[in-house]
Amino acid sequence: MDYTAHPTAVIDPGCTIGAGTRIWHFSHIMPGCVIGENCNIGQNVVISPDVKLGRNVKVQNNVSLYTGVECEDDVFLGPSCVFTNVINPRSAVIRRGEYLRTLVKTGASIGANATIVCGHDIGRFAFIGAGAVVTKEVAGLRLGRRQPCASNRLDERVRAQAEIRRERRSNLSRKWAEIHALGR
Ligand SMILES: CC(C)(COP(=O)(O)OP(=O)(O)OC[C@H]1O[C@@H](n2cnc3c(N)ncnc32)[C@H](O)[C@@H]1OP(=O)(O)O)[C@@H](O)C(=O)NCCC(=O)NCCS
Repeated sequence: MDYTAHPTAVIDPGCTIGAGTRIWHFSHIMPGCVIGENCNIGQNVVISPDVKLGRNVKVQNNVSLYTGVECEDDVFLGPSCVFTNVINPRSAVIRRGEYLRTLVKTGASIGANATIVCGHDIGRFAFIGAGAVVTKEVAGLRLGRRQPCASNRLDERVRAQAEIRRERRSNLSRKWAEIHALGR
C-alpha cells in the first residue's frame, strides 16, 4: 500500500488508489473507485462507487463525488463544493441507472460551495468562482460565475468591463496552462 489513510477513513474493497495519495479523517471511498497518484482527499469526503480521479487531484473538506463524476489530472475541488448526478430527483422514484455524467477536465478549479448541476462538463483550466451554480457546459480557460444568465441583463458599460476582466483572466489561465505544460 503506497498511499496513506487516516485510521478513521473507510476504504471499501475494489478501489484502486495511487501511490502518494493521502486520505484524511472520516472520508469514505466506495467500491470500484479509481484514484490516481499524489491526490489529497480532505476530511469528510465521500467518493461514490466507480468515480475516477486522475493524478494530483485535490479534494477539500466536505465534498461528495457521486457516481458519474470524473476528474482529470490536477483538478482542484474547493471546500463544500457540490456535485449532483440526478437531474430530477424524487424520493419515491428510483433513478439509479439515470445518472448523468460530469467530466471535470485537466487543471480546472472549482471554488468553495459552488454547485455543479450534473451533465455539464467543465473545460481544461476553467475556474469556477466560489458559490457559482453551473447549469451549462463551461468552456476551457474561462471563468464561471454565479447565475450564468445574469449577464443578459447587464448594460453596455458593465458588459464592456466584464469583457475586459474576462480577457485578463483568460490570459492568466493561459499562462497557468503554459506553466503546467512546462512542468510535464
Ligand atoms: C472568482 C475569483 C477567482 C475572482 O477573483 P478576482 O479575479 O480577484 O475577482 P475580484 O475580487 O476582482 O472581483 C471582481 C468582481 O467579481 C465579483 N466576484 C468575485 N468572485 C465572485 C464569485 N465567486 N461569485 C460572484 N461574483 C464574484 C466581485 O464582487 C467583483 O464584483 P464588482 O466588479 O461588481 O466589484 C474569486 O473571487 C473566487 O471565487 N475564488 C475562489 C476561492 C475559493 O473558493 N477558494 C477555495 C480554496 S480556499
